[in-house]
Amino acid sequence: MNERLIEQLRSKYLEIFGERPQILAKAPGRANIIGEHTDYNGGFVLPVGIDKNIYAFSSKRNDRTVHIYSYDFQESASFSTEELTYEDTKRWVNYQKGVFNELQKAGYELSGINMVFGGDIPVAAGLSSSAALELVTAVTLESLFNLNIDDLELIKLCRSAEKNFVGVQCGIMDQFASRMAKKDYAVLLDCKTLEYKYIPFKQDEYYIVLCNTLKKRELVDSEYNKRKKECEEGVTFFQKFNPEVEFLRDVDVDLFNSKKNEMPDIIRKRCGHVIYENKRVIDCVEALGKDDFERVKKLLFESHYSLKDLYEVSCRELDILVEIAGDCEGVSGSRMMGAGFGGCTINLVPLSGIEKFCNTIKSEYYKQTSIKPEIYICRIEDGACVID
Ligand code: GLA
Repeated sequence: MNERLIEQLRSKYLEIFGERPQILAKAPGRANIIGEHTDYNGGFVLPVGIDKNIYAFSSKRNDRTVHIYSYDFQESASFSTEELTYEDTKRWVNYQKGVFNELQKAGYELSGINMVFGGDIPVAAGLSSSAALELVTAVTLESLFNLNIDDLELIKLCRSAEKNFVGVQCGIMDQFASRMAKKDYAVLLDCKTLEYKYIPFKQDEYYIVLCNTLKKRELVDSEYNKRKKECEEGVTFFQKFNPEVEFLRDVDVDLFNSKKNEMPDIIRKRCGHVIYENKRVIDCVEALGKDDFERVKKLLFESHYSLKDLYEVSCRELDILVEIAGDCEGVSGSRMMGAGFGGCTINLVPLSGIEKFCNTIKSEYYKQTSIKPEIYICRIEDGACVID
């Protein structure tokens, strides 16, 4: 936990509200070992919570007013729980408004609150700072108002906040990971049934190292929605042969291969990625169970090249980072992570090789792009919760 930041937030709260906060909550960002663009296709993902969080100090108020101070943006916003409209200028507050909105729609009784929040999750890096902001708000409200909401409902409400209020058509991975993450484990989530299993991850032997391209992400929302549509076309295609197909996840490799030549080019590529990526997630879990890091490595690189060539959501900077990592001795895989078009790569690096890996990435990436990348060596952390 970032004790220094927590202390800064605590004194800011005292300074602004002149009282001690009732609770402190935190929610982590996420990394995803494998399973990209599979969640909204009812498939499998394998995320972890990382040791970068959003923290929020809060107290209940007796009226309907919500006062929030963003430590990172150094701005305040206020709204009434009875008037939840989209905010164009201070866009960060829409995440909290969205959560208030969904909880109230679901019938939970809320009053106003005071909140000061801030975090150390790099923004716009594809590490789900937005899901963390939703979750930190949700666990805060759950605790302040004794709502007793079951984990899955809370996760779904946060995802609806992002879909309905912020307007991003995301899958469920980010919110799920930010809530259900567990120290020393990855979470294997079946996005169709929402069944999940904790998979031990040897985080003292292999480190999750994230390399940030620092490339400004463009087109990500429109391309994301386009990919979703293309996958839906794929579902319609396969329903002709099997009416039980509800998601691409229901299409197995054999059915895909027997019909793929009858599909339009683009749709075949998109479906090919999703169908094989789902298989890679299951294979990766098996390989982790056997400590077979050679296999894990192969699967991660395959995932990257599939995202690049079939799903077409990578970019030059991400490809460069993956290529450099591929030449580094001992690295057990590297691939682009998250929605794509920028953001981070995820790399599994043995402890003994970290220093060399970081130096090589820094110098080679700079040579090829004139950008100094940021590198985050992550520890796997627990999900969103109230701390005190
Ligand atoms: C974004 C979305 C997730 C998921 C990934 C791609 O992070 O928020 O739901 O779809 O992209 O795997």
